[in-house]
Amino acid sequence: MSEISFNPFDPEFRKDPHPFYDRLRTDQPVHRTPIGFVVLTRYDDVVNTLRNNDFSRDIELNANLPETPTRKFKRENIRSKSILNLDPPDHTRLRRLVSKSFTPSAIERLRPRIQELVDASLANAKRTGEIELVEELAFPVPFLVISDLLAMPTDRGDELREWSQIITATLEPTTGVEDLERGEVAIGKMRPYLEEIIQHRRQHMGDDMLSSLIAVEEQGEKLNNDELMSFVILLYIAGHETTVNLIGNSVHALLSHPEQLAIMRRESCTANMVDELLRYNGPVQHTIRTSLVDVDLEVEGSKITIEKGALVLASLAAANHDASVFSNPHNLDFSRTNSNRHVAFSAGVHYCLGASLAKLETEIAVGTLVREFKNIEIVGEPEWRDRLTIRGAVKLNLTVS
Ligand code: HEM
Repeated sequence: MSEISFNPFDPEFRKDPHPFYDRLRTDQPVHRTPIGFVVLTRYDDVVNTLRNNDFSRDIELNANLPETPTRKFKRENIRSKSILNLDPPDHTRLRRLVSKSFTPSAIERLRPRIQELVDASLANAKRTGEIELVEELAFPVPFLVISDLLAMPTDRGDELREWSQIITATLEPTTGVEDLERGEVAIGKMRPYLEEIIQHRRQHMGDDMLSSLIAVEEQGEKLNNDELMSFVILLYIAGHETTVNLIGNSVHALLSHPEQLAIMRRESCTANMVDELLRYNGPVQHTIRTSLVDVDLEVEGSKITIEKGALVLASLAAANHDASVFSNPHNLDFSRTNSNRHVAFSAGVHYCLGASLAKLETEIAVGTLVREFKNIEIVGEPEWRDRLTIRGAVKLNLTVS
């Protein structure tokens, strides 16, 4: 048998990582890459790692990595930490402060507004019979919803989108100093713009999420200005860069599985179907942690130790296709009864705060597209993003009637 390796640069891997993940999961579920990080592909290992406080999300502080120009740059230049990189108890405090705005009932109240935005986004396609799905539906809906929620003006949408894309590129495992520098320039442009909006909102509080974040006060604690800014930037980026890919991936998955599309037409799009679409091809491929102590994992009766300070890449995509949890995992199957066990939104303390919102947006966007058009066909080949962390289409041209 040939040596297996996790090589995210292999064009075959980029096209479809699942054959590689399947082999890793079977032959080397705790896989050490030549550059020293540990790749986990079994569902249980991924979930247990994400739920285990012996693993930290604060890589810069806790990982035992060789000094590189990238690390030096991060340490010297990247000032404030976002909620995403904090460990408890700092994470717990921040999360408690912000989670009130994201309760499922608060999100469900957005349903009519999301429907209105989806209907407006599809109006042109109804007239012309054509739609470029990403530009006309998958991007504008989450972007306008998050702008609405934060009561942000949308007049500089193009710039915000560009900055967000540059900042998201810094989350790639292959990030180098140049990407980080570009990211810092983008943050440097985004900050004063958002600062102005936050200042204005402080003086004119409304019933939007930004006002409640400003006002939030629990046990005498407030979000300080730096935390508020990092959080708003994270929300904006999550609004731009994740749901857009879920909507695109979902439509592509449905068009490649006409029998499942037929079920959705018959029964309309449900939350369970969105869970199955997230399991099948959720946009976030992996996340990282570092171990705070030596941790033992069991593989076929033997112990494999993940040493303190090791960098661990937990593959959410591989876990979601683990046949020991999801039967026939490479099939999109709306009759599955356990789709909601997927880890497309991660697990443990960092479980995606925007999960209910992303699911509702996708349910309405995909459900309305399928309801409005009896015929939907892909024109040409979709164009895919050249990213490792987030998978999704950049362009998906469709004819609809
Ligand atoms: C399909 C869409 C989305 C996917 C697949 C997704 C995925 C994820 C994942 C995997 C994490 C955790 C990463 C980790 O464990 O290291 C995360 C965290 C987070 N997400 Fe999402 N996300 C989506 C949409 C959104 C939206 C729309 C928002 C907000 C408007 C949002 C806000 C956040 C926040 C604030 C965190 C950090 C939570 C914490 O650290 O406690 N996400 N997301």
